[in-house]
Amino acid sequence: MTGRDFSNSIILVTGGAGFIGSNFIYYITELYPDAAVINFDKLTYAGNIENLDGVKAHKHYRFIRGDISSKKDVENLFDKFDIDCIINFAAESHVDRSIIDVGPFIDTNIGGTANLMGIARTRWANNLGNKLFIHISTDEVYGALGKTGKFTENTPLAPRNPYSSSKAAADMMALSFVNTYNFPVVITRCSNNYGKYQFPEKLIPLTIINILNNRDIPIYGDGMQIRDWIYVDDHCEGIEIAMRKGRIGEVYNFGGESEIYNIDLVGKICRLCDEAGVSSNSARLIKHVTDRPGHDRHYAMDIGKVSKDLGWSPKYKLDDALKETVNWYLKNKTWWTKLLNREYKDYYEKQYGDR
Ligand code: NAD
Ligand code: DAU
Repeated sequence: MTGRDFSNSIILVTGGAGFIGSNFIYYITELYPDAAVINFDKLTYAGNIENLDGVKAHKHYRFIRGDISSKKDVENLFDKFDIDCIINFAAESHVDRSIIDVGPFIDTNIGGTANLMGIARTRWANNLGNKLFIHISTDEVYGALGKTGKFTENTPLAPRNPYSSSKAAADMMALSFVNTYNFPVVITRCSNNYGKYQFPEKLIPLTIINILNNRDIPIYGDGMQIRDWIYVDDHCEGIEIAMRKGRIGEVYNFGGESEIYNIDLVGKICRLCDEAGVSSNSARLIKHVTDRPGHDRHYAMDIGKVSKDLGWSPKYKLDDALKETVNWYLKNKTWWTKLLNREYKDYYEKQYGDR
């Protein structure tokens, strides 16, 4: 192992019951079997503790329900554990929801991150050199690209929707803590993730599930928006490398080197579902609907810095990992049916209705 060694430490994962957080907990408990991994999650509509069923028997894994924006919850956590490293995934993550109601995005993404860092700063005051706070951010903080180009870490922040503005504010707060208090932060910014356990409000699981339910696949506007898709395992690997080798105060961009128009991505999913025999001519379900307000046309990440400084590049190809992802949702119908039948049901039904 090169760089910092947290393999015998206490690692706090916030938002560990969400999509990327739960994948990261599987990744890190396997790689660091002797580390204590604490999953601290509020269990909002997006948090599903069942995601962690496969790790709950692990002797060093603990789940604690709590809110990163609550002083009391975070103080209690630090009273119980001498935390060495924090990976801050906890967030409101869905752009469409931020357009409807920005409140929880401000509370959690900005207020929660500031609260967590503020308490960690005080508790770590005498030992800052051995501690680390990884803040998980997004390509969306850079705003939108034209038809070509890629974001680098030097691209100015220019967020264009309430979600990305809240993430950019948190990034600025984190960097201000480095400058003001020497607080040990590393920021990672990543493009669109896909894979198992992604909540079915997001494009890829929504498309697969709507095909299986014979419902319309909603494409916002002309569907010619470009996203750069990364398989979640690649992102998890990148975060672990950033834990070891990331330099304090630095930002690292992660991307999948897989840019594709939304409409073409959905076309691929339709073909995969047809090939799997679960539907026929799934593309007939595609329906262009009103565009997302302020919808960014193009995101893409330049991964030159992580490749050079951290030695990371994505391992998974879109076609292979997308197939694996589609198969996972086909095999795990119980997982997503339960989600659709819980609180999420109202939102899902209201958005897409019965066909
Ligand atoms: P998600 O919505 O699936 O999960 C978020 C988790 O955070 C949930 O388990 C939720 O219960 C928890 N949470 C929310 N508010 C909380 C609070 N106040 N206190 C404690 N827990 C709280 O999100 P995700 O897609 O897994 O994203 C995780 C992180 O990665 C977010 O910070 C997001 O901005 C960032 N990110 C996501 C993507 C992506 O494509 N999904 C890409 C780049 C960056
Ligand atoms: O770019 C990173 C971001 O990726 C993360 O920071 C966010 O947390 C994550 O949710 C994701 O944001 P997006 O808005 O890009 O993800 P979403 O899956 O909602 O949408 C992907 C693209 O598909 C986007 O251009 C909007 C479009 N879309 C989405 C949905 C849900 C549709 O056309 N139809 C849909 O029904």
